[in-house]
Amino acid sequence: MIVLGIETSCDETAVSVVENGRNVFSNVVSSSLHLHKRYGGVVPEIATRYHVELINYVLEQALDEARVSLSDIDLVAAVYGPGLVGALLIGLSLAKSLSLALPVPLVGINHIQAHLYAPLLGKKKPQFPFVGLVVSGGHTNLFYVKDYLHWQVLGRTRDDAAGEAFDKVAKILNLGYPGGPVIEKKAKRGDKGKIKFPRSYLERGSLDFSFSGLKTAVLYYAKDKHPNATLGDVAAGFQEAVVDVLVDKSLTACSLMKVKQFVVGGGVIANQRLREALTANLEEQAIKVYFPEQTLCQDNAAMVAGLGYQLYKRGVVSDLNLEVEPNLKVERVLVKKDKKYKTGEVKDGF
Ligand code: KG4
Ligand code: ZN
Repeated sequence: MIVLGIETSCDETAVSVVENGRNVFSNVVSSSLHLHKRYGGVVPEIATRYHVELINYVLEQALDEARVSLSDIDLVAAVYGPGLVGALLIGLSLAKSLSLALPVPLVGINHIQAHLYAPLLGKKKPQFPFVGLVVSGGHTNLFYVKDYLHWQVLGRTRDDAAGEAFDKVAKILNLGYPGGPVIEKKAKRGDKGKIKFPRSYLERGSLDFSFSGLKTAVLYYAKDKHPNATLGDVAAGFQEAVVDVLVDKSLTACSLMKVKQFVVGGGVIANQRLREALTANLEEQAIKVYFPEQTLCQDNAAMVAGLGYQLYKRGVVSDLNLEVEPNLKVERVLVKKDKKYKTGEVKDGF
């Protein structure tokens, strides 16, 4: 089955063709990041306009690279939330038009869930059940994933997401936007043990996250002069504080759920130090760790097409009344089996 994936939730215009949820025939991503840099963050109107201008070209290129035509497509999968309302509308409108015109079924995809499908496109495939961690610009979530249709939220961020903390700290340190890659680069030249920034573990046993206190600690630190510390030391100290909390909570989640498989996705997992620390600490407990390929960490449509295939095979379809949901909660995942598309509440924590 040939699936066309569409992703326009933020600043990436992405279309991909994936066969049977596994074989990525094409994965075209065009980012408007360069247009947002001067504003220090994504400007929704600019992102939306860029999607409108680019989406048809990106679609054509994805079909060309995959060497397929529209008549070969069997299913369209598109992100309908969470994300920027205007941006989501562009991708979902294209998906609905194709679904109607070809005609082929449509599956609406939750962007956060799609991030956890990216590692499943790799050579090594995790087994269900697993604990999943999504670390992106807008979300930090721990899930217990029993199978494609049954997810349980174990933890979420109470304030800033991990990627957002990288972005805000980079702004404080005048390093530009986005913060993750530049902080990682600076941190390589710093001493991670020199400045001990606070780790917020919240109340005992909690799998929620909070990174805003850490961000404020960096802000106050940066206000004073520290002749013995370099910018690299600050970046490394901050990065280590984020990594420590993510590793600790991931370990706790695996032990609580008694699973030996751990899957992680989202933009922040491009970070090599985080990959290293997760691998070392989880594999020490005999937990296998699965990462996406570097190109599948950022927003892309291959993960959308892949998840779309798996959901469709399990009876999930959306109709043309599907609306974008900018604030789509991670708890609301597709639970529909034989009936028409429906979202429902998944058990939220314990
Ligand atoms: O998943 P993503 O592409 O978009 C969202 O769904 O939010 O994630 C983007 C986030 C940004 O906050 C960016 O700073 C962060 O991922 N990021 C990184 C790295 N590369 C991107 N964070 C830490 N280290 C990196 N190397
Ligand atoms: Zn994302």
